[in-house]
Amino acid sequence: MKTIRASLIGFGAVGQGVAKVLLAKKDYLQSIGIDLRIVAIADSRTAVIDSEGVNLAAVLDSKKKKGVVGSEKISGTDIIKTIDHELVIETTPTNIDDGGVGLTNMLAAFEKGMDVVTSNKGPLALKYGELIETANRSGSKLKFEATVGGAMPVINLACDTLAGNKILSMEGIFNGTCNYILSRMVEEHASYEQMLAEAQELGIAEADPIYDVEGIDTASKLVIVANVIFGMNASYRDVTVTGITRITPEALLLANRDGYAIKLIGEVNDGKINVAPKLVPLDNPLAVGGTLNVFSVQTDISGPITITGRGAGSIETASAILSDIISLYKN
Ligand code: HSE
Repeated sequence: MKTIRASLIGFGAVGQGVAKVLLAKKDYLQSIGIDLRIVAIADSRTAVIDSEGVNLAAVLDSKKKKGVVGSEKISGTDIIKTIDHELVIETTPTNIDDGGVGLTNMLAAFEKGMDVVTSNKGPLALKYGELIETANRSGSKLKFEATVGGAMPVINLACDTLAGNKILSMEGIFNGTCNYILSRMVEEHASYEQMLAEAQELGIAEADPIYDVEGIDTASKLVIVANVIFGMNASYRDVTVTGITRITPEALLLANRDGYAIKLIGEVNDGKINVAPKLVPLDNPLAVGGTLNVFSVQTDISGPITITGRGAGSIETASAILSDIISLYKN
């Protein structure tokens, strides 16, 4: 049995999802030889530290009842810098302007040769090449399946399952909030504003929904996938982006009557990364409704491959984090 000591930095929806999933999968992890001990958990205000392994159920309870994880006043970055452990599970909120605390945490972990599994898109959408290079130089591993498409295995599909294939082009829906708004506007004949409010109630929109509806969240995810698949070193600022804020219910209904849906599509073709609303035939695999995401590639030897799934949600995103942890430490 291999003991892995990990910190969980960021205890919002995703961090709490990770704690729940790790509790539920503890026995399974042990059955495959992984004894994962969370030695520290930090939210933005407080932390809990226990070198023997934090009681996850108690911390979840404390967060629910009191809004904090514990009583220690130490930041996540200082936990990474000062406490002995091998893995940082980085689930702080995405900051797309400069990478924010997530970037600081990842660099602090690499400085100590620690591995990082993250759901935080910001650092990867801004500084992908630099992060991979720094991790490699330090002998650290960086895994980030949870940054794109929640439960959909986008990075694993491209890197592992389709290994040996040449991916010729890719497209997809990478934002559940936009997909929900566009689907519901047709169903309810309702305005964009009404359906945005509904999407926010579902809790899948970013803290500032402008990132969703202006296509920036899609661009960030797309650029991460493009960098992985096509070996690019692009930032989300290299993506041409048009959002969904000017789409009217009338346009959606007209398209629907003619057999089309309007979807916010991210695509990479001939090295160009583009996000824009597009007409999609209703029988096309991209025409999924609700909060679903879709990822579709054209390959040289496997032909077209499309997957769809829940692209947001705390447990769904935690599932991608669990899969990254297992792929790092199994065997
Ligand atoms: N706001 C995102 C979405 C959440 O709606 O898909 C997952 O990144």
